[in-house]
Amino acid sequence: MGSDLVHVLLVSFPAQGHINPLLRLAKRLASKGLLVTFSTTEAIAHMMQKANNNITATNTLTPIGKGYLRFDFFSDGWDVDHPQRNDLDAYMVQLNSVGPTSLADLIERQASEGRRVSCVINNPFSPWVLDVATDMGIPCGVLWVQSCAVFSTYYHYLHNLAKFPTSSEPHISVQLPGMPLLKADDLPSFLLPGTPYGCLTELILGQFKNLSKASWVMVDSFDELENSILESISPLVPITPIGPLFKSIDTESDSTSVRGDMWKAVDCLEWLDSHSPASVIYISFGSVVVLGGDQMEEMAWGLRNSKRPFLWVVRPTENSADTRLPKGFLEEIEGQGKVVQWCPQDRVLSHPSIACFVTHCGWNSTMESLSCGIPIIAFPQWGDQITNAKFISDVYGVGLRLGHPKGGPLVTRGEVERCVAEMTDGGPKAEEIKKNSMKWKEAAVKAVSIGGSSDKNIQAIVDDVRGRAENQNGPKADV
Ligand code: UDX
Repeated sequence: MGSDLVHVLLVSFPAQGHINPLLRLAKRLASKGLLVTFSTTEAIAHMMQKANNNITATNTLTPIGKGYLRFDFFSDGWDVDHPQRNDLDAYMVQLNSVGPTSLADLIERQASEGRRVSCVINNPFSPWVLDVATDMGIPCGVLWVQSCAVFSTYYHYLHNLAKFPTSSEPHISVQLPGMPLLKADDLPSFLLPGTPYGCLTELILGQFKNLSKASWVMVDSFDELENSILESISPLVPITPIGPLFKSIDTESDSTSVRGDMWKAVDCLEWLDSHSPASVIYISFGSVVVLGGDQMEEMAWGLRNSKRPFLWVVRPTENSADTRLPKGFLEEIEGQGKVVQWCPQDRVLSHPSIACFVTHCGWNSTMESLSCGIPIIAFPQWGDQITNAKFISDVYGVGLRLGHPKGGPLVTRGEVERCVAEMTDGGPKAEEIKKNSMKWKEAAVKAVSIGGSSDKNIQAIVDDVRGRAENQNGPKADV
């Protein structure tokens, strides 16, 4: 084709919550006239290719807006079905030791095939990507895939810039710049003394290790949503909001065709079409959270007793998904509810039949719901989800809390039923939440529209990447 495009390589940590925002960024950058290669491990590529039709061969270019998207993967040194693949500690050791060489090979191959990489962008869960890029003299950036509030909280904790709960003072509240007072129960749970997820705390704080090597730190959020926090953290780390990446006006038609699902999505849109506007409760706890058996049972009967139509994503575990549902449940809900193992959540949340979203408050789910104007029933389980739930209910005003703020004790079927009723019965609280949800939807759409705050930020980064590429020697990608 002969056109001369600047080539950017995006490297995703192998997890759904990282792949989705990074792939959306890939499409956004391509739409602005770059050649973008999206990369993650071969094992994840295998899952993505099984679940989606168009995660294509490495030599295929998908045109998106003014640019192109392609895929190219690297090995983590383990077979797809390696027995330790689900052991996070062991896997991190493997990825961190094999990943750098595999990635360096991939980058060198791009140059030898006439697509010299001018910029590398990763999620900070793999800080070594920044080492590889800088050692090869390539400018790099990171995409933070959680909220700015959570970024700032971790940053203050890591650098001892505020007093946090300790084993001798476990209940103290934390005041951080630009944020409401956070009680211990509002903090990302990995920072609490006695957290059972020590390895995750290390992984999360490790994300900050190499940030100074990044020329751009981007966040999937938008200025209007987290303005006071962005302003207060910027003197410490300049961080640029470019979201919600999910709402990419100029790539919407292409977005529907290239998806990064790790599991095959069940098409439930026809089922949603058969329901009245704002009538269906959507329930999903993302790609990692697994509810305990007792909690599954209470959630199930609470939904059935609510008498509202519902769509519930229950991911399979090692056993089958069905066995995690109470006996006889699927028969009981015939004509009322639908249970699927994975769905196209972006399309579900955009469907007019959805009334509200019962979510674990992962940041992607939070941003997607907020961008679609869907009220939230917040049921956080751990980590940043706890802090997101605090902001959802008390700061953005778009949701109700289900159960104890910290998670933990069982939430009964009665509480599930009561919360669903409160959100859907049209009382003053529900009306206020709906109004706020619509307000944030409009702000989100505006932020990513041409000339909006996030669009301008992303354009400035694209211009900067292009400017630096022009100053580098050698040919650009010949596509
Ligand atoms: C993880 C962490 O758990 C979360 O706390 C952190 O904020 C991000 O990384 P995850 O638990 O998977 O993410 O949740 P979330 O951030 O909500 O991401 C899940 C993604 O999967 C969303 O983009 C959602 O749209 C998608 N999804 C989920 C589907 O496409 N279909 C489904 O059926 C369920």
